[in-house]
Amino acid sequence: MYGDATAGPVLLNPGPAGTSERVKNALLRGDLCHRETEFTELLNRLRLELPRALDFPRTYESVLVTGSGTAAMEMAVTGAVRSGRELLVLSNGVYGERLLAIARAHGITAHEVGPEGPQLHRWTTPIDPAWVERALEAHPRVDAVVCVHHETTTGLINPVREIGEVVARHRALFVVDAISSTGNEELNLADVGIDILCGTANKGLHGLPGLSFLLCGPAGLDRIAEAPARGFYNNAATHLAGQRRGDVPFTPAVQICYALDEALAEFAERGGRRARVALYRERAVLVRSGFARLGLEILVDPPHRANSVSTLRLPANVTYRRLHDELAQRGYLIYAGQGGLAAGHFRICTFGEIPWERLEALEFALDAALLAARD
Ligand SMILES: Cc1ncc(COP(=O)(O)O)c(C=O)c1O
Repeated sequence: MYGDATAGPVLLNPGPAGTSERVKNALLRGDLCHRETEFTELLNRLRLELPRALDFPRTYESVLVTGSGTAAMEMAVTGAVRSGRELLVLSNGVYGERLLAIARAHGITAHEVGPEGPQLHRWTTPIDPAWVERALEAHPRVDAVVCVHHETTTGLINPVREIGEVVARHRALFVVDAISSTGNEELNLADVGIDILCGTANKGLHGLPGLSFLLCGPAGLDRIAEAPARGFYNNAATHLAGQRRGDVPFTPAVQICYALDEALAEFAERGGRRARVALYRERAVLVRSGFARLGLEILVDPPHRANSVSTLRLPANVTYRRLHDELAQRGYLIYAGQGGLAAGHFRICTFGEIPWERLEALEFALDAALLAARD
């Protein structure tokens, strides 16, 4: 298994994810003015390579965004809804809730669809396409539907292919937050009929954080041109127009673009999307067999589990802080549960560069840390 041996702790948080030496060294390519031809070449290469790496057809165009994944979410939501029209937000976790908050912050009328009841139930139940059908019938002014593919809150995969079929039947635009699934989860997102996809350079693509992107199909590109300008900096139409000319409207994170360039080259050299997905699948099998031997329960039911994130129940008499610190001493950084899950759960994520032998050794470290963390 690949992975540069790193002396530091293994990051088992959902991002920033670990990167290879080659990607880190890309930062040293040097200083470059973004108004020079070299930057235009880099920009053009990244814009072409992103859809290609993810197996999308040539009809898809990228918009690079200097900013974390939330910047891409905001650009997608604000660019997807025409004046006087509405948005349907499918929500079963923190990132669905964030999409709704973004819409409301921009004065876009948004309807929310998701499971009802206590938070634990809402966050562990996938979106049912039948709910989407009913909501679209009830709200004919809906212009776009937005859904999180992999809810990183819990490690739950939503059935975006089936949801996409409903959305297409209703002739609405389909926007998907695939920030924690591009490159690493089973479904080929190119088969889903997505009009605007949000992704990030980090997580499954193994670039550095701070750069995100949209992948837009023909209907998404048309819609971006039709939507009113909402906000100034984070406007998809401005960025798209500039990038089509080989230019960016504002100072970009040049060195993070270098890093993505190397990350995409590594991605292709190692066998592309299918190989990356297989790696994440193998990682999931490895770490989860260890969790089972240690008696650690995974929150999300098997059919809906992502390869990359496991939310685990904290055993009795173990607090997250103690477990975190004990594991950190053993070279692994884990992550807390979100919202109401913070008290009783923690997350182990396998994004980015992780040497295989460090993942093999995780079970032993976890066993020792659980023992030491018990009251
Ligand atoms: C599914 C999903 N959407 C959006 C985001 C937001 O990305 P960022 O924290 O990079 O702004 C994340 C981050 O983890 C995510 O997992």
